[in-house]
Amino acid sequence: MKEDFYKHQTQTTPHPLALEVSHAKGSYIYDTDGNAHLDFVAGVSACSLGHCHPRVSQAIKDQVDLYAHVMVYGEYIQKPAVAYTTLLASLLPESLETTYLVNSGTEAIEGALKLARRATGRTEIFAATHAYHGNTMGSLSVMGYEERKSAFRPLLPDVRFLQFNDESAIAAITEKTAGVILETIQGGAGFIVPENNFLTKIRKRCSEVGALLILDEIQPGFGRTGKLFAFEHYNCIPDILVIGKGMAGGLPVGAFVASRSLMQTLQDAPKLGHITTFGGNPVIAAACLATLREITETNLIADTLEKERLFRTLLQHKLIKEIRGKGLMLALIVEDLEVANHLILTAAKEKLILFWLLFEPKAVRISPPLTISNQEITAGCQQIISILNQY
Ligand SMILES: Cc1ncc(COP(=O)(O)O)c(C=O)c1O
Repeated sequence: MKEDFYKHQTQTTPHPLALEVSHAKGSYIYDTDGNAHLDFVAGVSACSLGHCHPRVSQAIKDQVDLYAHVMVYGEYIQKPAVAYTTLLASLLPESLETTYLVNSGTEAIEGALKLARRATGRTEIFAATHAYHGNTMGSLSVMGYEERKSAFRPLLPDVRFLQFNDESAIAAITEKTAGVILETIQGGAGFIVPENNFLTKIRKRCSEVGALLILDEIQPGFGRTGKLFAFEHYNCIPDILVIGKGMAGGLPVGAFVASRSLMQTLQDAPKLGHITTFGGNPVIAAACLATLREITETNLIADTLEKERLFRTLLQHKLIKEIRGKGLMLALIVEDLEVANHLILTAAKEKLILFWLLFEPKAVRISPPLTISNQEITAGCQQIISILNQY
């Protein structure tokens, strides 16, 4: 299988980890030699309920036997998408009542950027340095990391950058600004949380000048930070909320959510302002519904903060300089890049899955399934400490 992987499938780096997967269950991925790998990454925050959660798997099976796809998005009335968007609206602030379901996080960002331009009639977008919003051309344009985007220029015009948590930059947002896009907690930058009411101040400025605030919760959303959505920690309701990743228990999905009146601007002049064949796919929507019900009908969200405390207690070592992030979106900031590489690669050999962050070379990602047990956390943390002790 390895040979065919290298020959026929595109790799995204010259050195993929190349774990040969047989199956996955709960917090473990099993390789083709029968080894169990403890998963502290959860498909980069996508497998929020662990692998093959029975409630999600059953919902997928039930739906696939009824109908898997019938029509492009937005034309027919299909129960899974209607039930899902209705439940989601009941859990969000009143202004976030209408959801546009798409196929990935980056497509949801594209939709949000288009909506901000269409609704305001303006073109300027503000984004944050070291921001990551995905990899299609619009998302790349608002990525705050030149090294990863210069090869693909020219990108969208009229994109400006401010530094996350830098209040002095807020005044640059003006009546010319269509939208400000921020991750509620910056991911690729190193799990940077907002400080000193930064998001509330940005919210206020956006309201003053008529710009739309877009919050990207593709990673922190769906319980990962100890609230259903991370913006609930920061007294800041966005005009457009962008979600994805953990939303469908491991299936591909994204969505942007806004008020009915904002969303209606995509229906006319021009009609079909954003369209997609598979957005709102009934099988995916059924998985979304089962995932959201499981997250909200159990103690998973509250337990996230207990589990964070356990990680922080167990992961004390002189080579760990800081633990950033919130809930089960944690980054170990270690001494330097060599320590990070050593830890991640040795852990991989010892069958503990850790990973890098995109733009912070000293960071080691810990974003396990929300369903991970205290025993599994303890075992994985002991392994991390033992690897660091041997460095
Ligand atoms: C904050 C954030 N925004 C956007 C994306 C892009 O989502 P996708 O990979 O589903 O296109 C990601 C994915 O890592 C992300 O973490």
